[in-house]
Amino acid sequence: MLDLENLEHRARERLSATMYNYFAGGADDETTLADNPAAWKRIRLVPRVMRDVSSVSIATEVLGTPLSMPILVGPWAFQGLAHAEGEAATARGAAAAGTAMVVSTVATTSLEDVAAAAAGSPLWFQFYLLRDREMSADLLRRAAAAGYRAVVMTVDKLPVPGRRRRLAADRFSLPEGTGIPNFGYAVPEDHDTGPDEYLRGLLDPSVTFADLEWACAECRLPLVVKGILSPDDAVAAVEAGAAGIIVSNHGGRQLDGALATADALPAVVDAVGGRVPVLVDGGIRSGADVVKALAIGAAAVLATRPVIWGLVVHGGPGVEAVLRELAAEMSHAMALCGARTVADIDRGLIWGVACR
Ligand code: LAC
Repeated sequence: MLDLENLEHRARERLSATMYNYFAGGADDETTLADNPAAWKRIRLVPRVMRDVSSVSIATEVLGTPLSMPILVGPWAFQGLAHAEGEAATARGAAAAGTAMVVSTVATTSLEDVAAAAAGSPLWFQFYLLRDREMSADLLRRAAAAGYRAVVMTVDKLPVPGRRRRLAADRFSLPEGTGIPNFGYAVPEDHDTGPDEYLRGLLDPSVTFADLEWACAECRLPLVVKGILSPDDAVAAVEAGAAGIIVSNHGGRQLDGALATADALPAVVDAVGGRVPVLVDGGIRSGADVVKALAIGAAAVLATRPVIWGLVVHGGPGVEAVLRELAAEMSHAMALCGARTVADIDRGLIWGVACR
């Protein structure tokens, strides 16, 4: 049994205060950051008994990607600042656990090198629509050529970066020479410039659903839209060609006061009506949280911060250990809920949400 809370404490001891704040922090008063895990905890399961759960399987498939568990590793930037081996270690850890990693565009390892580290295990590629459309199209082509199975287009970061007080207090700037190999260069040395200010110059704030249509047409892989909380936006994204939706508030790092993803999920699932898979991230801290997400109707979840702490403390094996812990907790919760497979998990297992 791995104590995920304790793992965060250990990671915090290893990181500088600034780096810890970068990974752990959220926007403004961090209300949404705190509400994400709390909202999963508020949901109550209604266990079912005497259903022969002598064998429980949590394997699944999302958009053609086979997964040992309905838990993908969520994307986060600059993993080389969390561990010397960065994204390559995360990829190895996810591969060892049999699940997919969503690799950030803003990685400290090129998307091709992460693919090499994953050695054939499934990867998805996180993508932003950049001001430079040719560069955007090129990233999509490179992801397909490198064998990625899907693209995750983040849409809640584009207009403006969240306001992160912790980072402002720390005057956080990227360590000198931090590279973004996917763009082919290092972040310019400017010690008054944090990552968000840097990204602001690259990301296109004018993006609309018409641009999403363009990206879907340009992308040879299924394109999943990440950063949706509104059911109307989910429907618009599906109509623009999205192959999937990720309900997300960017880990509480964008609009503070935005609703928790567990609270947003039911209406989005209902609006999408099974046309494409709906995934969710934000505040997933236990296997029971995953069961709750699937019971509401998510096809899978993305776990991010717990995986970061695993990477910081133990590298690739730490990533694997966190994923295996979440998987073990999930199997355990499923057995107690009388669910043998992920297909057995439905809204009947949760109290309240179905009637909201
Ligand atoms: C962040 C960006 C890079 O939240 O997505 O830090």
